[in-house]
Amino acid sequence: MQTHTMHQDCERILLTEEQINSRVREIAEAVDRDYQGKNPLVVGILKGSIIFYADFVRRLTMPVELDFMAVSSYGSGTVSSGKLKIRKDLDRDVKGRDVIIVEDIIDSGFTLANLKALLMERGASSVRIATLLNKAARREYDIAPDYNCFYIENEFVIGYGLDYNEQYRHLPYIGVLKREVYEK
Ligand code: PRP
Repeated sequence: MQTHTMHQDCERILLTEEQINSRVREIAEAVDRDYQGKNPLVVGILKGSIIFYADFVRRLTMPVELDFMAVSSYGSGTVSSGKLKIRKDLDRDVKGRDVIIVEDIIDSGFTLANLKALLMERGASSVRIATLLNKAARREYDIAPDYNCFYIENEFVIGYGLDYNEQYRHLPYIGVLKREVYEK
């Protein structure tokens, strides 16, 4: 079996592949139970959610439709700010649909609070949120995920979809980025 050594820009590994796999499986099983008999539209928010999304949807056993949105709330730095901008909208109409939004991380809550409101406004029957990571201490908006894999501290995390300047998304684990990398 191929083994992955830790990337040199990582200070430490926060969540291993095994920890992630087993928790994603648990969350997907909970969603699978809750949505039996339904046909949810599973909306991945690009790009951070893609790896989680791919692992998550493969565990669902009911009929599902897959769709994606790209929004921006962050600039290239590390602080969330500004207005939510839709860069790629859904292909499917959400009217009357049960929507599950899949995110990699909920930080201030700005993105998900705005997205949920938008999809409800468009006539979705229900909107729930599944997130990989939850930085609960950073919350500024009144929004909580319905399905949460891991609570994390306020550290700069990369890997399993998460980036810094578009790097590190492909790492199979979640690591803490060395301070010297983003303070350069
Ligand atoms: C990240 C993440 C969420 C948002 C969370 O996206 O995927 O969408 O920020 O922050 P918030 O709760 O403070 O709104 P980012 O803009 O970094 O884009 P990416 O997914 O393409 O990396």
